[in-house]
Amino acid sequence: MQNIHTYVQEHKDRFINELLELLKIPSVSADTAYKDDVIRTAKEIEKSLRAAGCDIVEICETPGYPIVYGEKIVDKNLPTVLVYGHYDVQPPDPIDLWDSPPFEPVIKKTEIHPEGAIFARGSCDDKGQMYMHVKALEIMTKTGQLPCNVKFMIEGEEEVGSKSLSWFVERNQEKLANDVILISDTGMIAKDVPSITTGLRGLSYVEVEVTGPNRDLHSGLYGGAVANPINILTKMIASLHDENNHITVPGFYDKVEDLSAEERAEMAKAPFSLDNYKKSLDINAVYGEEGYTTNERNSIRPTLDVNGIWGGYTGEGAKTVIASKAYAKISMRLVPNQDWEEITELFSKHFENIAPEAVTVKVTPHHGGQGYVTPIDNVGYKAASKAYQDTFGKTPIPQRSGGSIPIVSLFEKELKSKTILMGFGLDSDAIHSPNEHFGVWNYLKGIETIPLFYKYFTELSK
Ligand code: BES
Ligand code: MN
Ligand code: MN
Repeated sequence: MQNIHTYVQEHKDRFINELLELLKIPSVSADTAYKDDVIRTAKEIEKSLRAAGCDIVEICETPGYPIVYGEKIVDKNLPTVLVYGHYDVQPPDPIDLWDSPPFEPVIKKTEIHPEGAIFARGSCDDKGQMYMHVKALEIMTKTGQLPCNVKFMIEGEEEVGSKSLSWFVERNQEKLANDVILISDTGMIAKDVPSITTGLRGLSYVEVEVTGPNRDLHSGLYGGAVANPINILTKMIASLHDENNHITVPGFYDKVEDLSAEERAEMAKAPFSLDNYKKSLDINAVYGEEGYTTNERNSIRPTLDVNGIWGGYTGEGAKTVIASKAYAKISMRLVPNQDWEEITELFSKHFENIAPEAVTVKVTPHHGGQGYVTPIDNVGYKAASKAYQDTFGKTPIPQRSGGSIPIVSLFEKELKSKTILMGFGLDSDAIHSPNEHFGVWNYLKGIETIPLFYKYFTELSK
């Protein structure tokens, strides 16, 4: 394909500036205070899809935030790629820990990104990566080289569980008909080690509430004689892992897929430095399930983590009190074959079972989704692999990720097509953390690689 590299070089300043504008809108889906901004972001994406050459662009209303749909149909007989991405972002908290305001994007050089990185909430997850696809379409239409049909489906609730997207997909199977789904919402191993994500973990997210006495009590008058919900909750949580860091919920591992020794050996070939890993996190040692490596622990093994815990007095100074209630938010990352609803059920039962009589326990499921693995012997994977070979000069490594995009398994069920995960972020880009950033090099490389996916997917589909 001609001129893609040249086109990117000629237009890169504008490509960057357009993304910076998009990043200025705080589209935080978790917090209703940002509602107008989330909706404004959808409208901006609508405009950008039209400018990039889509023939049809619609803002599709849902029970929640709208979905932006766009399409460029070249010829009904050609293959169709459905691009998915999300325009919502995580809350920026804790804001104090940002070196620059989260919604005032700046470009700064870092050790890993000497060409500069864009610092802003959503720069990598997922506005920056989603926008690469908008620019890739622009290149293809402006240079008259689009070899296939492209559809876009950009949602605004990914970070809060994609409820409205499920609703939308179930009702629009025909509109969304495609031959492959393409997503850039994951990462790659390193700038000189391209990789394609071949697996995502599932998720079960619950909130637990432990109630003791009917009111907060004086910890001198009552302490020692009634159950302290915070003491009990922490004890219950501690019991959820054994001394080998196995999860103790009965039945939790029943359906976990066991990888063969060969598959594990293949995984271990991916370049990884435990020293650099520890250094990058300022930790003296890693920690996790006995019998598994760090890369296995964070991809092919299920986990259980407390994401937040609260109760009692946390203000300034001291208050002597036994709280009436204690709470925690708990997530379980799941692997293929584990069913998230079944796991939620197993967890709830177990948590209620281990509670002493002196307290009552309530478990409220939040959201969840199934894991996903994609084979590497299909046309989509092969096309992606060839695209990376052209732009990175290397064959990408297939890699299973620890993160979750729960909607991907629903795509397979409802739309009957495979998803290809071409992520261009790095683990060090601090997604969901303060100072999230996305390398300018990664952004432009993504824009260059995506059109080649279209080319090879069309050729290999013949
Ligand atoms: N883009 C991430 C998921 C991701 C990141 C996968 C990096 C692989 C590598 C996505 O936006 C995300 O944050 N997903 C959530 C789940 C969702 C239901 C809130 C997650 O993984 O915590
Ligand atoms: Mn994302
Ligand atoms: Mn995210």
